[in-house]
Amino acid sequence: MTIQAAEGTKDLLPGEAQHWEDFKRMSAEVFGRYGYVLIDTPVFEQTELFVRGIGEATDVVSKEMFQAVSGENLKRLVAGEAIKGKSRLSLRPEGTAGVVRAAVQHNLVPPGAAPVKLMYAGPMFRAERPQKGRQRQFNQVGIECLGAQAPSADAEAIIMLMRFFEAIGIPAEATCLLVNSLGCDECRPAYRERLYRHLQDNAALFCEECLRRAESNPLRAFDCKNPQCASAMEQAPMITESLCGACQEHHGQVKSYLAIAGVPYREEPRLVRGLDYYTRTVFEAQVTEGLGSQNAIGGGGRYDKLAEEVGGNPTPGLGFAIGYERCVLALKAAGYEFPSASTCDVFVACVDGTVQDAAFEAVQTLRDSGLSCEMDHQGRSLKSQFKLADRQGASLVLIFGPDELAEGSVTVRNMETHEEAKVSLEGIADKGCGGLLGLAGIGQPPV
Ligand code: HAM
Repeated sequence: MTIQAAEGTKDLLPGEAQHWEDFKRMSAEVFGRYGYVLIDTPVFEQTELFVRGIGEATDVVSKEMFQAVSGENLKRLVAGEAIKGKSRLSLRPEGTAGVVRAAVQHNLVPPGAAPVKLMYAGPMFRAERPQKGRQRQFNQVGIECLGAQAPSADAEAIIMLMRFFEAIGIPAEATCLLVNSLGCDECRPAYRERLYRHLQDNAALFCEECLRRAESNPLRAFDCKNPQCASAMEQAPMITESLCGACQEHHGQVKSYLAIAGVPYREEPRLVRGLDYYTRTVFEAQVTEGLGSQNAIGGGGRYDKLAEEVGGNPTPGLGFAIGYERCVLALKAAGYEFPSASTCDVFVACVDGTVQDAAFEAVQTLRDSGLSCEMDHQGRSLKSQFKLADRQGASLVLIFGPDELAEGSVTVRNMETHEEAKVSLEGIADKGCGGLLGLAGIGQPPV
């Protein structure tokens, strides 16, 4: 039996892998305009970071972490021996905890400094039940802005998120932006208490897990997929009714900045997001069609306590992450045409075997000059070589024939118009595609 990719993982094949590269480049370009710089943190961290940062009551930490132990420690665990806390490792289920850990560890945000704006891209791992739009290894691009308290920073991040979707080709009308505020240390405890009471008073309507998690974080009941719990949560008190004055003002200002930027949003008082570190602003971008239940293509929020949670100074923070694979599904649903994987500029074709050596030499020279160049290595007919050049997306073909070669020239064929013209072989490498076609008087290659 052939070995398949592990459950919940997906190969990014040629073309797809190129699109992921382009996606990352586009994110760096868009986020760079807002002052973000790249950071790259390890794909595994001490488990303790995620437990403290994301929260023990979350699905992500309690059910979905891929734990990792080194060989020696695995033997100890199997033998029933204890291992050190710092040897308990987990593959990162998300990027925020690691970025904040790195910022604290390397003192990237000294007190009083300007906000630090960090962006990242890479694989995340969650042991969820795989389904359309839900993988066990998936890719994210994300940002974290550390050291900014003002609501304009929240709005700036949300605006950037929505601009990014448009930049990659997901039309604004295909997305819906949900926003909410989860309050702060001042107002959330009283709300949690009200929610806890709602769960206790209606205990018969909730699943065991909701009741158990009510002890550590009753807000998690909003995430429960059990339809009976969801319907019992319809009657639950809303956080928006419990926000303190400062949180109300912060939330109001975030919304007014969104309005200034012309970014439409919908208030969703049930939006709590699946991670416990959020304070105040939370947001999620969903696509309206084509993704089924896994329709969130990106989301994030503010986390003003996270830096302290991982041992740092009080540092306000906010950020978001975008799921690459879900964006691909959204692009497909929107009818986006993915560019082909080809990178070939010039194809060098041989009329017969006598010109093979000269053609081989020309290919190397053209590559050294910076052009992407290909030739046939299987003795194909000229017609088959043209077909191959076409499949590889070549803009032009240089045809090496014995007669032309004898007089020091080659034929240039424009692959779009099929026009042909003779050019001198001398100095072809210096001309580039456009130069060669121009020299042959047959116009520019297709872009
Ligand atoms: P998240 O909502 O858990 O937030 O993930 C962000 C995005 O990653 C989701 O909207 C979704 O597109 C994608 N995603 C999540 N899980 C999966 C999966 N199993 N398969 C495919 N795609 C998935 C975070 O990760 C936070 N760290 C965002 C953040 C940054 N908050 C503040 N800063």
